[in-house]
Amino acid sequence: MNSTKKIAILDSGIGGLTIYEELDRTLKDVEFHYLMDNRYLPYGELDADKLIERVFYKLDVLLQDTIPDLVVVACNTASTQVLDKLREKYSLPFVGVVPAIKPAAELSTSKHLCLLATPATINGDYVNNLILEFASECKITRFGSSKLVEIAELQFWSSTADTKNEQLLLELIPQECYQADTVVLGCTHFPMLKPLLVNMWPEGTKFIDSGAAIARRVKSLLYIGTDIEQHEPSMLKEVERYKGKHHFYMSAALTPTQIIRLNTAGFKHFNHI
Ligand code: DGL
Repeated sequence: MNSTKKIAILDSGIGGLTIYEELDRTLKDVEFHYLMDNRYLPYGELDADKLIERVFYKLDVLLQDTIPDLVVVACNTASTQVLDKLREKYSLPFVGVVPAIKPAAELSTSKHLCLLATPATINGDYVNNLILEFASECKITRFGSSKLVEIAELQFWSSTADTKNEQLLLELIPQECYQADTVVLGCTHFPMLKPLLVNMWPEGTKFIDSGAAIARRVKSLLYIGTDIEQHEPSMLKEVERYKGKHHFYMSAALTPTQIIRLNTAGFKHFNHI
């Protein structure tokens, strides 16, 4: 019996890879189908109607190719605006990624949070409601920026230029953000910048992203009613990973160097859709 599960992961760019990595570390026997709508990157600059149209369209195309057991919308910008509509239309299980406001409010001692997200997420109704419900006692300094997304993309594809990027980030991020004792990384691209961000805030500042919580949620949904232990990854996992077996779909062409970069992340099959 084939026990391999298929998980589709959606994002505008490489941000969803932070979620993929967490899932890949936590699960075994999974074939990933990563859909990157790079033609419309950054999603944080799209108006809601266009974003909804893109996500539906891309998902429909993907579903012609493969039917996953579960879909992860690995994008805060899309999850906060489209998730309900996706659940209405498709009978597949969807897991969304949204800013981790609740755990951040619980962890913060000063009750001053900084929320880093995209322009579309930062002041959206979804985030406003999360704050009202779980962090009404906190001061929230919000910074929405597509520039941060761009820096994360550059860093991923070039794998270099860290000092230059740190300087760029310092110039962009407003002073008030550094007073918060807990920073919410409310965009899946931003965990890639964490090694730089950690240097910019006072020591001891907490940085929260949603990756680990999403992996736990996916695992519980995927193996519902079975013994989860038997799905723990083995020691051979790292070796398997570098053989590469996963599928990658993009809406704008990638260069050969970019393909090689994705090979090292575990992707072998590429489709331009
Ligand atoms: N990675 C995405 C997010 O979590 C989207 C970034 C963008 O395309 O603006 O919001």
